[in-house]
Amino acid sequence: MRMNPIALITGSNSGIGFATAVYLARRGYTVWATMRNLHKAEKLRQIIESEKLPIEIAQLDVREDSSVKQAVAQIVQKSGRIDVLINNAGYGLRGAVEEVSLDEWKEQFETNFFGAIRVIQAVLPQMRAQHSGAIVNISSVLGRLAIPFSGPYVSSKFALEGMTEALRYELAPWNIKVILIEPGFIATRFQENAQLAHGAQRQDSPYAIFKRASGRRVQSNISRAAPPERVAETIYRAITHPNPKLRYPVGRDARFVLPLRRFSPEGLFERILMKQLGL
Ligand SMILES: NC(=O)c1ccc[n+]([C@@H]2O[C@H](COP(=O)([O-])OP(=O)(O)OC[C@H]3O[C@@H](n4cnc5c(N)ncnc54)[C@H](OP(=O)(O)O)[C@@H]3O)[C@@H](O)[C@H]2O)c1
Repeated sequence: MRMNPIALITGSNSGIGFATAVYLARRGYTVWATMRNLHKAEKLRQIIESEKLPIEIAQLDVREDSSVKQAVAQIVQKSGRIDVLINNAGYGLRGAVEEVSLDEWKEQFETNFFGAIRVIQAVLPQMRAQHSGAIVNISSVLGRLAIPFSGPYVSSKFALEGMTEALRYELAPWNIKVILIEPGFIATRFQENAQLAHGAQRQDSPYAIFKRASGRRVQSNISRAAPPERVAETIYRAITHPNPKLRYPVGRDARFVLPLRRFSPEGLFERILMKQLGL
């Protein structure tokens, strides 16, 4: 009898992680929906119960070595394998490069970048032993282009993109697929959960006027955000493809802006973006 493939997702209590856990479970995956705070599992538990979904919930904080090791050991022990890892946990940090303290920069990288590496390193011995698997890193349109006042977030996603590209070559001999998902605006609580750097909260911030202008533009784009299920659908398409691409943009905004970035001269792209952002 063919067993369900096993998927591990980080940050599954909300947004894209939650939608992907449910989406994959409805399509025959056994999902390990992990989260750092199990008190936030209520909504997921309700849907598991009402639809009898094959979802297991486990604690995993991507910033804690012991939590990551324990969760992966538990999955291998109970499920015997890990077919898909989805590195989804992440948050946004806003503020001008000058105003964000070095500690805040490091915190941002600790979750969005080192967090993904920590989980990848924990699952790879198992995936290499299986000689199969897929690693999906949730990047962003902002892993390919920068906007102002999001420098730490943009940098963490650029770093994630570079690491993922290297990893894809390294794991090809083991038949382990490595994939980047690049969403545009997605309707989750991501914007509400984003942090504002302490230095950026000062009334006398020299950047205040520019931040207000670009913030208004960003807000108006959020209203056209795609649902998180669109990301889940794209992940499913990528992981079930025999030969997945490296990059999968998600949402109309992503599919418009990424080719524009790629094919227009840098100076022109900069002028278009500045106009869009009201700068
Ligand atoms: N929404 C968008 O417009 C958008 C666009 C492009 C890319 N993305 C990316 O998509 C991913 C998911 O974001 P989302 O939109 O679904 O936002 P979200 O609803 O805020 O979800 C973020 C998830 O990450 C978790 N998380 C944060 N720090 C963690 C840690 N140390 N360990 C484990 N989990 C942690 C959060 O858990 P807590 O509830 O405990 O904080 C939450 O479950 C992120 O990587 C984000 O950068 C989002």
